[in-house]
Amino acid sequence: MKHNKKHKKIRRTALKVDKLIRARRGNRFPSKKIIELELQKYHKISSYVGSGKYKKVFHIKATEKDLALKVGKADDIKRDWKLYKYAKKKRFADRYFAKIYWHTTYCMLQKFGVKEPIPPEIQRDLKRRLNAIGLRDVGLSSDRNIRCFKGKFKIIDASFS
Ligand SMILES: Nc1ncnc2c1ncn2[C@@H]1O[C@H](COP(=O)(O)OP(=O)(O)O)[C@@H](O)[C@H]1O
Ligand SMILES: [Mg+2]
Repeated sequence: MKHNKKHKKIRRTALKVDKLIRARRGNRFPSKKIIELELQKYHKISSYVGSGKYKKVFHIKATEKDLALKVGKADDIKRDWKLYKYAKKKRFADRYFAKIYWHTTYCMLQKFGVKEPIPPEIQRDLKRRLNAIGLRDVGLSSDRNIRCFKGKFKIIDASFS
C-alpha cells in the first residue's frame, strides 16, 4: 500500500491545516490553539500534546490507532522526513524509530507513544544505536525524545549530527 493511502481522513485534515497555514502567508505561524480548533472540526477527540523547538504536536484518537500529528515549518518537516527515510535505509527505523506514515507540506503523521519512565540501559542502547548511524538526539538525557509503543521504547525525534 502506498504510504499516503493510510489514515486518509487524517491526511485530508492535514491538507486543511496546510491550507490554513498557507493562507497566513506573511503572517506568523498559527498558534497551537488555532491549529487545535481546526483539527477538532474533523476529529472530535484531538488535543494539543506539546512542542519542542520546531513542531507543535497533537494527539488524534479518532482512529483505531492513537496518532500524533506534528505541525511545523516546511523545511523542518522536510528535514524530519529525510531523516526518517535515512534511518529506514540504515535499518534503524523499523525497530527503534516511531513509525511515520506520511507528510504534507506542514504536517507529518506518526504513531502516538506513551510517556513512561525509561530504563537507563534502554536509553543508553538507543543513544548508542542512534549515534552509530550518525544521528543524535537533542533531548536523550532528559528523555524528551523517547516514547513507549506497545511496551517498546522508540525514538520520536532526532537530528543529523
Ligand atoms: N509520536 C509521539 N507520541 C507522543 N508524543 C509525541 C510524539 N511526538 C512528539 N510528541 C510530543 O511532542 C513534543 C515535541 O515533539 P518533537 O518531535 O520532539 O518536536 P520538535 O521538532 O519540536 O523537537 C515531544 O517532546 C513530545 O512531548
Ligand atoms: Mg524534539
